[in-house]
Amino acid sequence: MVKTSCLWSSSYGFLILVVALICLPNAHSLQSNSYMGFVSNATEFKSEEYYDYIIVGGGTAGCPLAATLSENYKVLVLERGGVPHGVRNLMTPEGFLTVLTDVDTHDSPVQSFTSEEGIPNARGRILGGSSAINAGFYSRADQEFYRKSLIEWDFREVNQSYKWVENAIVFRPELKSWQSAIRDGLLEAGVGPYNDFSLDHVVGTKVGGSTFDTNGRRYSAVDLLNYANPANIKVVVHASVERILLASSSDYSGPQQAAIGVVFCDRLRRYHHAMVRKGGEVLLSAGSLGTPQLLLLSGIGPRPYLSSWGIPVARHLPYVGQFMYDNPRNGISIVPPIPVNHSLIQVVGITNSGSYLEAASSRIPFASLNPFFVGAPSSPIYLTVATLMEKIIEPLSAGTLRLASTDVSVNPLVRFNYFSNPTDIQRCVNGTRIIGDVLRSRSFQDFRFPQLFGGTDFRFVGPALPTDQSDDSLMEDFCRRTVNTIWHYHGGCLVGKVVDADLRVIGIESLRVVDGSVFSISPGTNPQASVLMLGRYIGQKILRERMRST
Ligand SMILES: Cc1cc2nc3c(=O)[nH]c(=O)nc-3n(C[C@H](O)[C@H](O)[C@H](O)COP(=O)(O)OP(=O)(O)OC[C@H]3O[C@@H](n4cnc5c(N)ncnc54)[C@H](O)[C@@H]3O)c2cc1C
Ligand SMILES: *[C@@H]1O[C@H](CO)[C@@H](O)[C@H](O)[C@H]1NC(C)=O
Ligand SMILES: *[C@@H]1O[C@H](CO)[C@@H](O)[C@H](O)[C@H]1NC(C)=O
Ligand SMILES: *[C@@H]1O[C@H](CO)[C@@H](O)[C@H](O)[C@H]1NC(C)=O
Ligand SMILES: *[C@@H]1O[C@H](CO)[C@@H](O)[C@H](O)[C@H]1NC(C)=O
Repeated sequence: MVKTSCLWSSSYGFLILVVALICLPNAHSLQSNSYMGFVSNATEFKSEEYYDYIIVGGGTAGCPLAATLSENYKVLVLERGGVPHGVRNLMTPEGFLTVLTDVDTHDSPVQSFTSEEGIPNARGRILGGSSAINAGFYSRADQEFYRKSLIEWDFREVNQSYKWVENAIVFRPELKSWQSAIRDGLLEAGVGPYNDFSLDHVVGTKVGGSTFDTNGRRYSAVDLLNYANPANIKVVVHASVERILLASSSDYSGPQQAAIGVVFCDRLRRYHHAMVRKGGEVLLSAGSLGTPQLLLLSGIGPRPYLSSWGIPVARHLPYVGQFMYDNPRNGISIVPPIPVNHSLIQVVGITNSGSYLEAASSRIPFASLNPFFVGAPSSPIYLTVATLMEKIIEPLSAGTLRLASTDVSVNPLVRFNYFSNPTDIQRCVNGTRIIGDVLRSRSFQDFRFPQLFGGTDFRFVGPALPTDQSDDSLMEDFCRRTVNTIWHYHGGCLVGKVVDADLRVIGIESLRVVDGSVFSISPGTNPQASVLMLGRYIGQKILRERMRST
């Protein structure tokens, strides 16, 4: 009997191996939820435990950072949201709009916010952060980003960090009709050369990577947690961090402050403390809204502003929450006369006249608010809507973040001041002109409807481009009138203003920021590749620093 069962188990094991070899695409052995073994609920958190690293925010940067540090150190991740595993609409490209436009309850995976200029926007509130709710397009950073970031990059490490991410969660997408037409139309419009499939930032038209696999299953920063050392990591969800705990640093003379831990709240509104060991750090990865908000709530920010809220000042840092940026998005949407497949961003046009071009297509209830366009009239029918948009590079227009409340779960007030810098509006005009060129291309003939009295035209949903696209003031007016977001907001804790070149908060010991809030430029055509890379990169850097110091 024993022998039989042994045989059974070994041949069964072999079968699993064979099946695994046949079925697993590429080297994507991380497709599992084994990370769930170290995820727990904040309500069950045992206080008074000490960690080497406490990471606030299990998002796009936080997950790769945590997995990396857990190699040698005891890591705690505190995430205010729940786990994406099992939420169907989060796992497919078709669910993208549904999740984004669902009613925002206090625990839905998307927390919507509206910037002070009235543009609806969104932030992730789930393990994996915004990488678990985004459109999945993946493309590495441009040279300008590295040059202007004020971080001394080691490019060998940068490349290795991208590779580490890409081996686990990045795929080559399959183009269907709409994305193929965009590719051809962009080339006809002069956005060349054609660079085929590439993860690199290269001028011209290319197919980029995707964090959706060819079966349409989403991968995100969460899957990078499967790289972690399970013995060294604890991920606590439904843990809303309210404040960074600071103490006078004994290592320094003078009133130097150091981060020693955090206070967080669970779903039953019970408070917990988590503390760092000597030599450890608190790492803020709460995103461009969450990180400056937490610094302010912890008394790190402009003195007069903090005082106006009655928040005791731990450190006067005038630029916390300043230099907030969001790349304006403008474009057109049409109803095609032929069926087109659902697609999120797969093709991108990289120009050297200040803009990037991207596209999507989706079947939507006409009445619903489609975040890819504005101004849809309401009607009960379903429509396929195809969208072509441009976003400007950088941008130069800067905004601000202020507290709306001392309750961390309330969105801060954000203003991006879209197009307040004249260069930004010129970039938009350049980008929308290319949209006009693409619409006139041969590849777009099939998307026109025959007109009653001869000729053909598009059926626009929402505003069309001005007829005279050579008129700068008409084009500028279109840009201002139809401005929207592509959710690539960044800044709030810039290098040289709030953090130093090693991303340490200026004047506070044992506290760093590792997320998109340190960027003054949004990296590449779409930022997630570089935010994921940053998490891995800083994790490796910290491991090396500690190796040297021991
Ligand atoms: C709808 C949408 C579509 C997008 N599409 C793309 C795309 O296709 N390609 C691309 O490259 N980029 C895309 N982006 C942008 C990209 O996803 C973000 O720039 C990036 O994910 C930001 O990463 P982050 O680490 O800075 O923040 P996040 O990933 O947002 O992580 C912050 C985390 O911190 C948590 N948190 C915040 N405050 C607290 C607190 N007080 N306590 C505990 N936890 C807290 C949040 O819940 C979240 O999990 C998109 C973004 C959105 C919103
Ligand atoms: C965590 O605990 C709260 C309160 O008991 C509960 O509402 C929530 O569903 C739990 N979440 C998970 C993921 O277990
Ligand atoms: C990093 O990768 C880019 C392109 O992917 C390449 O051009 C560059 O030479 C690489 N740098 C190093 C130092 O390996
Ligand atoms: C693409 O669209 C065609 C025609 O509508 C449809 O038959 C096909 O199933 C779609 N493919 C995918 C992958 O959605
Ligand atoms: C707009 O495009 C023109 C023509 O390509 C270029 O000369 C100009 O520099 C662009 N403007 C900006 C702000 O990039």
